[in-house]
Amino acid sequence: MTTTLYGKDILDVQSLTDDEVHLIMETAARYERVMKSGGRLLNMDGKTLATLFYEPSTRTRLSFETAMLRLGGTVLSVADAKTSSSSKKGETIYDTGKMIEGYADVAVIRHPETGSAAELAAGSSKPVINGGDGAGQHPTQALLDLYTIIKEKGKTEGLTVCLAGDLKNGRTVHSGAALLARMGVKFIFTAPEALAMPASITEGLKKSGVEVEINPDLDSAVAKSDVLYMTRIQKERFEDPEEYERLKTSYEVTNETVKKAKKGMIIMHPLPRVTEIAVEVDAYEGAAYFRQAANGVPVRMALLALVCGCE
Ligand code: CP
Repeated sequence: MTTTLYGKDILDVQSLTDDEVHLIMETAARYERVMKSGGRLLNMDGKTLATLFYEPSTRTRLSFETAMLRLGGTVLSVADAKTSSSSKKGETIYDTGKMIEGYADVAVIRHPETGSAAELAAGSSKPVINGGDGAGQHPTQALLDLYTIIKEKGKTEGLTVCLAGDLKNGRTVHSGAALLARMGVKFIFTAPEALAMPASITEGLKKSGVEVEINPDLDSAVAKSDVLYMTRIQKERFEDPEEYERLKTSYEVTNETVKKAKKGMIIMHPLPRVTEIAVEVDAYEGAAYFRQAANGVPVRMALLALVCGCE
């Protein structure tokens, strides 16, 4: 049977089959080649994307918007969904979904509550893409992270990936761990004890046979990692500001860290960064985080076209 994503909601990485993931990677690579050769794509001509962002975003929002425009489609946006949409008047996300289906062909939502994208999808008959729901999932980030690793390292099988920083609250590492685990990687989890990866994720990975090392020491972790995936300490998810102050500078990647790294190690980060990667590291050839952000465009183009049946 031919793989298709037509009409599918992209809510989490677990709902994507391996064939669907490969189709997204192949479609993104094809679009990237067309753009690099100066070609134009009009696959989404006549289609509209609605973006509903109830939390701040630069990369996810802008890359989805430019992705839609580069495919010849149009974008409807609520400037700040939290304050300027009917949610302020008490409208449920489910009802917003019912309304959005009459205005757009596909919607992207970011929201502080886990499960909000699923609620929008329950209301809308049109495909809904999760652009990050609280500390839950960020599936499109996981897909662009996978795309980046394949581009940078040429494979995933056998690589050691160190996920570092706020593994408790970081939705990018929750989605990323679930997706990369299926691609043959080994993990090192590097976090202060208070920000460790949720036990349900770690135990789930181990039960499915994935190798996981818990190692809070960044220097010894980078010495054996092919990929260092740094994350920001998520200030907005802390209930106790003092706890944030205590943990905010847990790790800083500097040129000294890079000197201790395994040869060829790449450094990734979903961005924005605060102090966890020093600006001096940007000159390191393995500093892949800005290339990673750019990869969001072809990957999100592929997702939009595939769920709308316009690939
Ligand atoms: N990586 C990411 O989700 O960035 P934004 O918060 O800017 O969208």
